[in-house]
Amino acid sequence: MDQDVVEAAVVRAVHPRDEMFTSPDHYFGVGRSALACIDLALRGAATKPSDVKRILDLPCGHGRVLRYLRAAFPEAEITACDILREGVDFCASTFGAVPVYSEDDPHKIPVDREAFDLIWVGSLFTHLDSGLWIEFLDAFRTFLRPGGVLVFTAAGLAKYRRELAEYKKIGSHARLLAGYQRHGFGFEMYQHLDYEYYGSSVSSPAWVFSQIATVGGLRTVHFAEMAWDSNQDCYAFVRDDSHRAEVAQIAQ
Ligand SMILES: C[S@@+](CC[C@H](N)C(=O)[O-])C[C@H]1O[C@@H](n2cnc3c(N)ncnc32)[C@H](O)[C@@H]1O
Repeated sequence: MDQDVVEAAVVRAVHPRDEMFTSPDHYFGVGRSALACIDLALRGAATKPSDVKRILDLPCGHGRVLRYLRAAFPEAEITACDILREGVDFCASTFGAVPVYSEDDPHKIPVDREAFDLIWVGSLFTHLDSGLWIEFLDAFRTFLRPGGVLVFTAAGLAKYRRELAEYKKIGSHARLLAGYQRHGFGFEMYQHLDYEYYGSSVSSPAWVFSQIATVGGLRTVHFAEMAWDSNQDCYAFVRDDSHRAEVAQIAQ
């Protein structure tokens, strides 16, 4: 990917209610950083960018990263999926994405199965409790074509350090921190939102890889701590059904 060509092609329109927007430098920097993670993931999977024909961005939000996907993969069909319908509509009208409204239950999300060459999941797992991690990982596996690449981010050490510093000052998020320290995974529900399942999580790499092993059929091709925006950890896997079958045989 030629970074200068991609940067020049990025659409700059930002939705007025995009909550991810704080400043142009940070906003576009986060998109650029996501693309760098995706580039490393594709290299790890030995997938040429020209072989990426169908992309799923879930959750797309208002297209902070999707605009970079559009610029880097101009020929690809990009599906924009989120619970936030306004964001999905904006991605369709501004970046030419295929709009899909999401569901709380990942297995009910109305996208094609065995279809996507690349799935980008930016800051969804950062909001989910452990049960939904497994459900979403399994759903993403079924959305990928065999050999397709799943790239997702998770809140790890950087968030743990921030929350620990806050805890020492004001005693906040004790439950989240205790979970991470004891089991490598902590979660707390947000109090102020309508969603029943939405909260804040922090996860260690060891815990994340144990979830991947539980789901099966996902072969690791890339991992980097604090790689997205010098903040979230970035994980990448290819769908590998032979791997799933072999592990199932051993388990019998
Ligand atoms: C922190 S935002 C990240 C958005 C986007 N990836 C970005 O980087 O700008 C998390 C997003 O997850 C979405 N979300 C929550 N539950 C979802 C679900 N079940 N399916 C799809 N999106 C969901 C929220 O609506 C929100 O847009």
